[in-house]
Amino acid sequence: MGAESVFQQEFMILGGDFNNAGKASSRIKEILKKIGVDSSVIRRVAIASYEAEMNVVVFARRGALKFSVTPKQIDILVEDEGQGIENIDLAMQEGYSTAPAEIREMGFGAGMGLPNIKKNADKFEISSTVGKGTKLEIAINT
Ligand SMILES: Nc1ncnc2c1ncn2[C@@H]1O[C@H](COP(=O)(O)OP(=O)(O)OP(=O)(O)O)[C@@H](O)[C@H]1O
Ligand SMILES: [Mg+2]
Repeated sequence: MGAESVFQQEFMILGGDFNNAGKASSRIKEILKKIGVDSSVIRRVAIASYEAEMNVVVFARRGALKFSVTPKQIDILVEDEGQGIENIDLAMQEGYSTAPAEIREMGFGAGMGLPNIKKNADKFEISSTVGKGTKLEIAINT
């Protein structure tokens, strides 16, 4: 992010707010379509931003998603305040989830979000502090 950024926007995400869940990633998709970004790139960004957004809704108290487009890449930074992740290696494993039964009943909690973000991203960095929150830095090349 910085001077070369051609577009930038920040979205607030509220933990437990399932009515608005997914709105930031839908908006991002619209913006990228308007800019004329390649559809395969949009698809990857949409998956990554949606999964990151949902993790804040499901597991954190609140968060911010910063989205920026540069001529070379699309950056997504998601920082939340919440419980944090105790074991990141475990959280990155396909099928690992701590989602409770009521969340699974809503169709979440397959334990595929983080691995899918990583798969779709050209840069993926995650850091977390238990009791404080989690930070995800994602970049997808255009
Ligand atoms: N922002 C976050 N804050 C706290 N814990 C998180 C956060 N994101 C992920 N986790 C932890 O990492 C686990 C794995 O996350 P992941 O997104 O891969 O799966 P999931 O959200 O449980 O299920 P799915 O994404 O398939 O619906 C979660 O179950 C949760 O324990
Ligand atoms: Mg998830």
